[in-house]
Amino acid sequence: MHIQENISLKPYNTFGLDARARYFVKVESIQDLKEVLSLDAHPEKFILGGGSNMLLTKDLDCLVIHVALKGIEVVDEKENQVLVKAGAGENWHQFVLWCLEQNFGGIENLSLIPGNVGAAPIQNIGAYGIEIKDVLESCEALNIHTKEIETFTKEHCQFGYRESVFKQDKKNSYVIVSTTLALTKDDHQLHMEYGAITAELESMSITNPTIQDISKAVISIRESKLPNPKEIGNSGSFFKNPVISKTHFEKLQNKFPGIPNYEVSPNEIKVPAGWLIERSGFKGKTFNDYGVHKKQALVLVNYGNAKGSDILSLALLIQKTIKQLFGITIETEVNII
Ligand code: EPU
Repeated sequence: MHIQENISLKPYNTFGLDARARYFVKVESIQDLKEVLSLDAHPEKFILGGGSNMLLTKDLDCLVIHVALKGIEVVDEKENQVLVKAGAGENWHQFVLWCLEQNFGGIENLSLIPGNVGAAPIQNIGAYGIEIKDVLESCEALNIHTKEIETFTKEHCQFGYRESVFKQDKKNSYVIVSTTLALTKDDHQLHMEYGAITAELESMSITNPTIQDISKAVISIRESKLPNPKEIGNSGSFFKNPVISKTHFEKLQNKFPGIPNYEVSPNEIKVPAGWLIERSGFKGKTFNDYGVHKKQALVLVNYGNAKGSDILSLALLIQKTIKQLFGITIETEVNII
């Protein structure tokens, strides 16, 4: 274990922001993680996973702990179910590909999501009709105060839309060290309710899709509208899709008849933030080295050397404009640091 000083975090965040860490350490074992968390010389610590869901608006004047716990193993097997445990530092998409190679089903719709396995339960990652909560068996997390490993079942995680107990009551108290998923072995349940998937499979002339085909379709859809963080810095959806009351929605629908919507409950409607941002005129707008992606308005981008504070100002302007135009408050999905 080697503590480095004054390290650029540019390679460690998918926005590609050049914020600096006063101290930086990479941990590859639970023992090292426990030791580093006990270091009195560094009272302030920041846990960094895949860096795919954060906007660094400043340098971090503390010890940044990069969790790089690796390992994938099958821990239990039943007739048509397999429990697969993966270390928090495994890259999420590489893990999805590994599962597809073994023909384990359940996370094919979550292909190509940036970030690491450890962050997946924190914000209950989701795409194309599936969320990690649908397949999560449990996750293990190190209690920062007691240094003990605790197991969180799905119920303990208190999942919601891009939400979990790790973003609420237990925020800053735990480091997720592994995640165990319950996947199918051969009798897979395919999720193709999302229109874009059926359309993509049709264009690929696939009528009887496998989980591998669904993954290919999802990859193709994502590549067509979401920028690759290796080419253009970004953090996926910057905002969450807001949920508004039915009364509010009906008023908006009178004014904007084409407004897309999904019913969440008899009195609540989810409206795509991407549509609201596009209607506000921000889609494709570029300011110096940053802006709003031209194919998906929900994604803010860094074209090279933008500062996190610039992107934050843009996000605040978007939020303010949407509040004025539609009376809706949109919340960030990305963590602002
Ligand atoms: N839309 C626009 N303009 C845009 C973008 C979207 O009008 O620029 C409209 C679309 O026409 C469509 C609706 O908004 O009617 C929904 O768009 P899309 O299917 O692209 O999905 P999204 O709601 O924008 C969510 C997730 C994505 C996930 C996709 C697919 C959130 C915050 N985002 O996006 O997740 O990949 O659905 O399931 O829920 C992420 O969390 O980082 C992420 C990329």
